[in-house]
Amino acid sequence: MAKYKIVMVRHGESEWNQKNLFCGWYDANLSDKGKEEALSAGKALKEAGYKFDLAHTSVLTRAQNTLQSILEQIGQTDIPITKSWRLNERHYGGLTGLNKAETAAKYGEEQVAIWRRSFDIPPPAMEPDHPYYEQIVKDPRYADGPSPEEFPKFESLKLTIQRTLPFWNDVIVPQIKAGKSILIAAHGNSLRGIVKHLDNMSDEQIMGLNLPTGIPFVYTLDENLNPVPNGSLQFLGDPETVKKAMEAVAAQGKAK
Ligand code: 3PG
Repeated sequence: MAKYKIVMVRHGESEWNQKNLFCGWYDANLSDKGKEEALSAGKALKEAGYKFDLAHTSVLTRAQNTLQSILEQIGQTDIPITKSWRLNERHYGGLTGLNKAETAAKYGEEQVAIWRRSFDIPPPAMEPDHPYYEQIVKDPRYADGPSPEEFPKFESLKLTIQRTLPFWNDVIVPQIKAGKSILIAAHGNSLRGIVKHLDNMSDEQIMGLNLPTGIPFVYTLDENLNPVPNGSLQFLGDPETVKKAMEAVAAQGKAK
């Protein structure tokens, strides 16, 4: 028995997605294509008649701008928005800023696939001498969290889920159960963590999931917040387009 719906969307293509660089907590902007994707996402949600009571996003610009563009399209720029580091992309550690294809050529496609899609094998840490260490660690947007002890220098998907789920359980779940219509604009891996949780996917199954940029997907949940039959990962896009977009994300880790 369907009781709740929730809509999620990975941000539109970022400038670092476009350059095929490991991005993580680096605050990349949307590329022109990504801005178009965000507009299309808004149009798709508008055509499907979605209206939201509130929205959640990360503290990173690419997700926030995607959300803003969607809300402008559906005429709901006035709804409450929560911005939390707990919805940030997974922290890619020392890989941040490296080209994914070049990294695959250097360390092998299998190793890059493990770093990108495994459950509990993290990338190497971002050391203090990393070119983006200071910029990220000292960013004032993190003044309210994570604490210095919690501040990640690398994250596996497992570690990402460990900091995303408290936000899901403590903030979003009560809102869902209160009947609120919610939109989450976040990142490929923070959303993979939520999907893994909702669908109770195994550590092996989640390795195969690549989320496309800028295509909203809907979960239809029962009273226990379990997906109803055919209620998981329902994309607002034609299946062939979604399939090709997922394959393109997976291919980013191939050596040229
Ligand atoms: C990044 O952080 O590089 C991307 O947004 C997600 O990267 P991935 O698809 O390689 O995990």
